[in-house]
Amino acid sequence: MKTRLMADAVIGLNFGDEGKGKITHHLLQSSEYTHCIRFNGAHNAGHTIYHNGKKIVTHIIPSGVIRGIRSVIGPGCVVSPTLLKNEIQELETAGIDVKKHLFVDKRCHVITSEHLDEDGRDTKIGTTRRGTGPAYRDKYDRKGLRVGELNDSEINVTDIYDELHSSDFPVVALFEGAQAFGLDIDWGDYPYVTSSTCNVGGVVNNGVPAQSVRTVYGVTKAYQTYVGAKKFQPDGEIFNKIREVGMEYGATTGRPRQVDFLDMDQLIKASRINGVRELIINKTDILQQVNTWKLYRNKKLVDLQQEDRFTDFVRNELLKNCPEIDTVVFSYSPNAI
Ligand code: IMP
Ligand code: MG
Repeated sequence: MKTRLMADAVIGLNFGDEGKGKITHHLLQSSEYTHCIRFNGAHNAGHTIYHNGKKIVTHIIPSGVIRGIRSVIGPGCVVSPTLLKNEIQELETAGIDVKKHLFVDKRCHVITSEHLDEDGRDTKIGTTRRGTGPAYRDKYDRKGLRVGELNDSEINVTDIYDELHSSDFPVVALFEGAQAFGLDIDWGDYPYVTSSTCNVGGVVNNGVPAQSVRTVYGVTKAYQTYVGAKKFQPDGEIFNKIREVGMEYGATTGRPRQVDFLDMDQLIKASRINGVRELIINKTDILQQVNTWKLYRNKKLVDLQQEDRFTDFVRNELLKNCPEIDTVVFSYSPNAI
């Protein structure tokens, strides 16, 4: 059928852990979506979602399974069959019918036990030790093994081309990003990055014509967090306070996240490069609780002192500098709603 594929994307604009899972889960309430697709990364991600009052953490499985939406792990991802089966089991135990809704593209490269061992010895980057970097390295070195070659009866294998382009009904897919602009292999703070394309270009690489990308939802927090080996957090008790109040500990590894104030320069850059139309700024309530309204602009620390001045400043700078942005929404942490 000659219908045009529609693709919306949820993209992280900071260093991950912005609340992409929460936004994806919220958007998937719309009955318009036929698919939810992960287009990059692996089990390194940790998406925390509150569904019917219950906390659910996903790693590589698209959030769509929670709402019973057909969910695909796209060819831009690398997959450990062992970790995938564990995650399927965990979600099934939580009452989610994963097996019926989850499909893995045959082109996904496999994270082997050797990749897991190798990444487990990392100390330089501070990886999540899920074998992600070594698997992508072997993919690009043309030594990799692909899911389609596995013949694993526990994994539903699909072809993303058929999913997106050979359907009898119009496909409207929500692409759920993992990691973020600051961790992107090309645009992030190399070498302290992950090994995939976290930006919207990664969506296109998963079989989506550029013209099909409709709305890009950018997600960030009212302050920044980062987990990894580089020093990120400046001196000052306020940052520890934000970590404690904001419960900033890794969903995958439990590591404490380093904290800093919002960087407007980086946020504008990330929004422009991703063509963000709707920008969501999560966890504004955490800054309320610590009553600090600071950010960086033009590399300088600016103290806006109160919430309305902070939100006005951020909104104005974004609307002034990012041609695609229509809306800027300040949101609150799920446990604050
Ligand atoms: P890797 O992706 O496990 O190779 O880790 C590379 C860098 O990205 C490390 O600093 C990780 O902590 C970070 N990272 C990877 N995935 C995530 C995530 O989902 N949230 C936050 N940081 C991540
Ligand atoms: Mg996370």
